[in-house]
Amino acid sequence: MPDKGGFPHFMIKEIFEQPQGMRDTIEPRLSLNEGVVRLDEIRSSPDELRALRRINILASGTSRHAYMVGQYVIQDMVNIPVDVDYASEFEYRNPLIGPGEITIVITQSGETADTTAAQREAKAKGSRTVAISNVIDSTIAREADGVLYTLAGPEISIASTKAFTAQMAVLFLFALYLGQVRGKFSREQRRLYLKDLLEIPEKLKVQLETASLCESLADRYHAFDDFLFMGRAAHYPVAMDGALKLKEVSYIHAEGYPTGETKHGPLALIDEHLPIVIIATRDQDDAGSMLRYEKTVANIKTFKEQGAHVIALTSEGDEELAKLTDAIPIPTTRELLLPILEIVPMQLFAYYMAVRRGLDVDKPRHLVKSVVVE
Ligand code: BG6
Repeated sequence: MPDKGGFPHFMIKEIFEQPQGMRDTIEPRLSLNEGVVRLDEIRSSPDELRALRRINILASGTSRHAYMVGQYVIQDMVNIPVDVDYASEFEYRNPLIGPGEITIVITQSGETADTTAAQREAKAKGSRTVAISNVIDSTIAREADGVLYTLAGPEISIASTKAFTAQMAVLFLFALYLGQVRGKFSREQRRLYLKDLLEIPEKLKVQLETASLCESLADRYHAFDDFLFMGRAAHYPVAMDGALKLKEVSYIHAEGYPTGETKHGPLALIDEHLPIVIIATRDQDDAGSMLRYEKTVANIKTFKEQGAHVIALTSEGDEELAKLTDAIPIPTTRELLLPILEIVPMQLFAYYMAVRRGLDVDKPRHLVKSVVVE
């Protein structure tokens, strides 16, 4: 039986295991010197990958948020359309998929019934399937045509943390591998991507140093019963998962929302009784990222005018937002790798909120680690 390794709960232990889980997941699959990614285990030939016309991704819960980030990453890096869906909804929408496509099935446990059923449906329609699973030889892994294991180690806490960051890293590697096989990137471009990815484990360690700040924020915000989490683009799924973490372990109502969508309704809710957790990071080398950042700063000013308390995930050195909000600094990295770092303070915040409320953090009421019934 795995032990807590000196931590009070499995959830906080697994949050702190993320740098190592990331290293174990990415390092065996790449060579920085050669600028090469090796994902032979997906068992698709280079010709199949070059002919690939669409990718479908299916998952449940936190794994679904990983695929939502993966959609941005793959479409941005490789220009292949990615269709995403809840595993539990997939079979009801007569999915128009077939040969010449890959369906990626993301699952920590590899046993989720909805996801198993969706994978079988995809196979029945002729799609190749690739499982991203954290459990070796799990049902979904065994039934897939190819498997990309996350090697984050056993995840005991019901709320998924280290598997999630490892899933996002595997999807980034997969996108890079597709680009490599399809001749999209030069060797030098691939080396730049790989260099940034290899720095993530160390940046996760730096991010974990915000634990005490997240604990103090949980102490300050513990009495609120509703939260709105927001993010734009690849940060929107991170906001979704931050809200899910808080719901799962602290039983506090929280919604994840695309930042730009809040003006179509949720703005009416925002006042001093509804705290906001917003992702307001930026990649100064990415024009699109900077445009989104400027819009987000304007949104934050509006929320403040409406009396809201705002917790903002900001890029290191952002003095303006440090003055305007309860800021949690995020180390700089490229836009499409920021989500891996941004989820950590949200995991920590949810954890400390649950502890502050005296709840059973690792075994939240009514939930199970793997839902094996549809
Ligand atoms: C839920 C878990 O039951 O299933 C979540 O509580 C998880 O943490 C979801 O994200 C999906 O599970 P899996 O194993 O398919 O990723």
